[in-house]
Amino acid sequence: MKKIFVTGGAGFIGSAFVKLVLEETSDVEIINFDALTYAGNLENLKGLDATRHKFIKGDICDKDAVLQALPENADALFNFAAESHVDRSISSASEFVLTNVLGTQVLIDAARAKNVRRFIQVSTDEVMGTLPEDDTAFFREDSPLEPNSPYAASKAAAEHFVRAARETFGVDTVITRCGNNYGPRQFPEKLIPLMISNAMNGEALPVYGDGKNVRDWIYVEDHARAIWLAYEKGEKGGIYNVGARNERQNIEVVQSILDALGKPHSLIKYVTDRLGHDRRYAIDAAKTENELGWKPQTTWEEGLQKTIRWYQENQDWTNHIRNGAYRDYYQKMYGASLSA
Ligand code: NAD
Ligand code: TYD
Repeated sequence: MKKIFVTGGAGFIGSAFVKLVLEETSDVEIINFDALTYAGNLENLKGLDATRHKFIKGDICDKDAVLQALPENADALFNFAAESHVDRSISSASEFVLTNVLGTQVLIDAARAKNVRRFIQVSTDEVMGTLPEDDTAFFREDSPLEPNSPYAASKAAAEHFVRAARETFGVDTVITRCGNNYGPRQFPEKLIPLMISNAMNGEALPVYGDGKNVRDWIYVEDHARAIWLAYEKGEKGGIYNVGARNERQNIEVVQSILDALGKPHSLIKYVTDRLGHDRRYAIDAAKTENELGWKPQTTWEEGLQKTIRWYQENQDWTNHIRNGAYRDYYQKMYGASLSA
């Protein structure tokens, strides 16, 4: 049996990754290490094969806890754990520096101490900053790191420490940089689940600025598959951009959600723009496609339909969140109350 250590596996992408690996392999055991912050949710891990999946609650900044949980000679460490929301990083950046930067370094040190064979850092296209709209420019693996939000800055800093571990100590590292994910179990602070749940509840849909910012959307399982391939086939020290060539303006995404739910466009409310709002993300995934043999399997139309259906069929999941600390976050962030 292979042993892998996954951090942040109770979150949106980490839980999708854990499920995919358990489903598509038969010889992999997973230790899932997650602090269960506001974004971590054990409901995301219900029904998993307990013989091959072990959950441990712990903080990646806690060196002793990490050393205790991480097995000697593990085949790989996948670092998903992070503070992940740009708006929260604008309100308060310190937690981002702690988890995303210090936490990554703690994991690197532990991986060295325990002789982990490969370190996979799950990064983001946001480290490369923003692209002009109406342009043919794309993010490539050799694009400069020009992060604009505190979140992106913390993820870029983490990448630098991963690179330094490779150059200084010869750690076998791989970095993946994906675009915006969507799919089941995404915390409703992010654009797509926020708009789905607000629309389902007949609440206003807050669109920042002119709504013409562009994001390159990918279905979460396609991202998870790319990370697994990067682990299996990626070159030592490799960086892999992951994207489904699916650029959309925010307003188009929001209108598609309203149309799919049969709700009126009058629910859209333009609100003050995000500070430092990156205009466009667009990924050139040619290296990942060519070197790893990866291709996205889910079209935007299928993926959005599946995602909306999941939120319709799992309203308890969202309601637990909407009735918790998220309610206060929403009030502070948007100056509006969520309906009961
Ligand atoms: P998420 O916020 O849904 O989940 C983060 C998970 O990490 C949660 O389960 C949380 O409990 C855990 N966590 C947070 N701090 C921790 C700590 N100190 N110790 C241990 N666990 C901790 O995030 P996500 O959207 O699933 O993103 C996962 C990773 O993918 C992140 O590294 C993020 O930067 C990256 N990423 C996300 C996207 C996206 O569109 N969501 C795109 C590209 C890359
Ligand atoms: P988000 O899901 O926060 O991801 P990121 O900032 O990492 O790209 O936001 C996606 C886009 O949607 C981004 O351009 C900001 C915009 N947005 C809104 O217009 N309204 C909202 O309420 C949110 C959360 C995001």
